[in-house]
Amino acid sequence: MPLMGPREMFAAAYAGHYAVGAFNVNNMEIVQGIMRAASEEKSPVILQVSAGARKYAGQTYIMKLVEAALAEDPSVPVVVHLDHGPSFEMCKDCIDGGFTSVMIDGSHLPYEENIALTKQVVDYAHPRGVWVEAELGKLAGVEEHVSSAEHVYTDPDEAVDFVRRTGCDSLAVAIGTSHGAYKFKGEAKLDFTRLEAISALLPEYPLVLHGASSVPQEFVELCNQYGGQVGGARGVPEEMLRKAAGMGVCKINVDTDIRLALTASIRQFLSERPEQFDPRAYLAPAREAVRNMVAHKIRNVMGSSGKA
Ligand code: G3H
Ligand code: 13P
Ligand code: ZN
Repeated sequence: MPLMGPREMFAAAYAGHYAVGAFNVNNMEIVQGIMRAASEEKSPVILQVSAGARKYAGQTYIMKLVEAALAEDPSVPVVVHLDHGPSFEMCKDCIDGGFTSVMIDGSHLPYEENIALTKQVVDYAHPRGVWVEAELGKLAGVEEHVSSAEHVYTDPDEAVDFVRRTGCDSLAVAIGTSHGAYKFKGEAKLDFTRLEAISALLPEYPLVLHGASSVPQEFVELCNQYGGQVGGARGVPEEMLRKAAGMGVCKINVDTDIRLALTASIRQFLSERPEQFDPRAYLAPAREAVRNMVAHKIRNVMGSSGKA
């Protein structure tokens, strides 16, 4: 199956009250781990590439890895998406380079500027058949180009106006999640009333949840047991993500859990086998750890098993 855009994927997810997992990719082992999980679960999947991933691996390498994954297993429906595109130029580069979906992240800009930038990307993407995700509201925490001390939750009426004026195809909303491993100091809380209001005002419209890692404590404990310092890390409870998936959220973003799964496995391996220095020896189990984590998420959080 060739790369596809998210339109049919999201329409089916919306109607079926499930979500498609969008997993960040940075190297071969991560691509393979995710693709093997999606294949065994017979699930659609979104491989997303951040500006940092493009800088680290290079867009050509990432696209060739995706191409190889598709050739190895053509049964998996795959979207390749730019995550948190910081500028029109980067979105254009990705569209020209074969991405089927891009995110333009103008969430740090004043409202009218976010609209203007998003619309500029939509005007370039749509004639070329490429999907555009935008963001309204701010997630607390640090992204590569955006740092916000406070959450600024998405206003439901503004969301309607934003979608109408920009023509963006999906919208990332801020309802209390944040990027990284330290999401909640006290009790985990998401603003489901707000999500319900946004979804009700935008019927049939796919919403996106960023900052949706669950930070599995087994990985945190393994990291710490084998020399890591990942104290007090907390993520979004899985049942909250499942609930969001039934409320118009069609795309759930996961990066931190991939990092934790890989790192926990590598730390454990190197600590238990100090004589080993063949990268394949520790990267193979790390790849398996990503595969198992992603398969669990597809089955128990996204609900997208068997939907390929
Ligand atoms: O939203 C942030 C993603 O986790 C990507 O992170 O910019 O470090 O690649 P990154
Ligand atoms: P996490 O840091 O919760 O994995 O969020 C990833 C994300 O939103 C990528 O855009
Ligand atoms: Zn994000």
